[in-house]
Amino acid sequence: MVELSARVKTMTSSPTLKLVQIKKQLEAQGKVILDFGAGEPDFPTPENIKNAGVEAIRGNFTKYTPTSGIAELKKAIRATYLAEQGIDAKDAQIVVSPGSKYGLFILLQAVVNPGDEVIVPLPYWVSYPEMVKFCGGSVVFADHLQPERRFQLTAASYISRCSPRTKAVIVNSPSNPTGKIMAGAELAELIAFCHPQGILVIVDDCYRKIMYTDEPYPSPLALVPEAGEQVAVVSSLSKTYAMTGWRLGYSITCEPLAAAMTKIQEHSTSNPCSISQKAAVEALAGDQGAVCAMVAEYRRRRDYFARRVDGIGNISYALPDGAFYFFADFSHYIGEKGFQDDNQLAMDILEKLNIILVPGSAFGAPGHLRISYATSMQDIREGLDKLEAYLKP
Ligand SMILES: Cc1ncc(COP(=O)(O)O)c(C=O)c1O
Repeated sequence: MVELSARVKTMTSSPTLKLVQIKKQLEAQGKVILDFGAGEPDFPTPENIKNAGVEAIRGNFTKYTPTSGIAELKKAIRATYLAEQGIDAKDAQIVVSPGSKYGLFILLQAVVNPGDEVIVPLPYWVSYPEMVKFCGGSVVFADHLQPERRFQLTAASYISRCSPRTKAVIVNSPSNPTGKIMAGAELAELIAFCHPQGILVIVDDCYRKIMYTDEPYPSPLALVPEAGEQVAVVSSLSKTYAMTGWRLGYSITCEPLAAAMTKIQEHSTSNPCSISQKAAVEALAGDQGAVCAMVAEYRRRRDYFARRVDGIGNISYALPDGAFYFFADFSHYIGEKGFQDDNQLAMDILEKLNIILVPGSAFGAPGHLRISYATSMQDIREGLDKLEAYLKP
């Protein structure tokens, strides 16, 4: 028996990826599953992006690339942030990675020492605590579960948890699982508090193009100019461009941190996929029509969801402002049906209705369920019909 490292023994499997396996198993048994668990767009990658990938293959762009990404892609990333947020980043600040998940992983590996505290939002995206623990860091939660300010991302919730051991805070806006966006003033307050103390503010903005408000996305790298090196952005093409399988993300940090991350990437994965990088250039620099269409459709689904959930009653939620998840409190029905927790409710729904929902416990919020609307309107209608009949027999 191989003796596993102490590090990996503390790591738990991703509950959301586990659901993908369960779905495959059930489908193999011939069941038709309505999947509201998915953390990925139901849309195909837009044609122009796919074509750029095909062209890359045909043009033999199939070899190793510079570790931190090709110049053409860095240029497209720079142009995007300049146009959207007025940020004039340098190539040396950008590290393109195989997915933002890996980008965040190497970022944390580059800054967290054993014993350091990293503040993670609660409810949290499932990988944050595991990544922090893997670095030997301690996870501290910034609680955003207060019922009177449901899921609102506030500076105070982070600042109240800061200590002399805090090395970094992670902000996820729009949030997975709540869809809430941290207002510019709150983010500025947090950055202004953190930077004089050498606390790094890491902003995961991978859903920033999937928003349903008219407010512009606050620019973390520009909000507090004197914060300089103490703000880092981690981003992704997965959600915006329906490119989850291409594995393409990137980060913008100060140059020394980008150099350190590049070193880790050099010795772990060499570079992000060459073909995906070419496709990403087209995604960022090409026509954005497909993104607008997808976001409009997500918005339509969100509004439909809200109407139907209101109709069912006794489910409290905060209307998501971005991303494609509804995160709702099902405590009433957990109690009414005599279940112990959200896991039991989700399992019963899966067994009886063939519907996948993710238990809130996976995000540190028992009593809740996460319902993804990155699935077809037809499935959403059918799923909500079944759910309504189940909850209100
Ligand atoms: C909040 C958040 N950050 C990062 C990621 C990772 O995305 P990717 O590695 O595909 O870029 C996800 C994926 O679900 C996410 O929800």
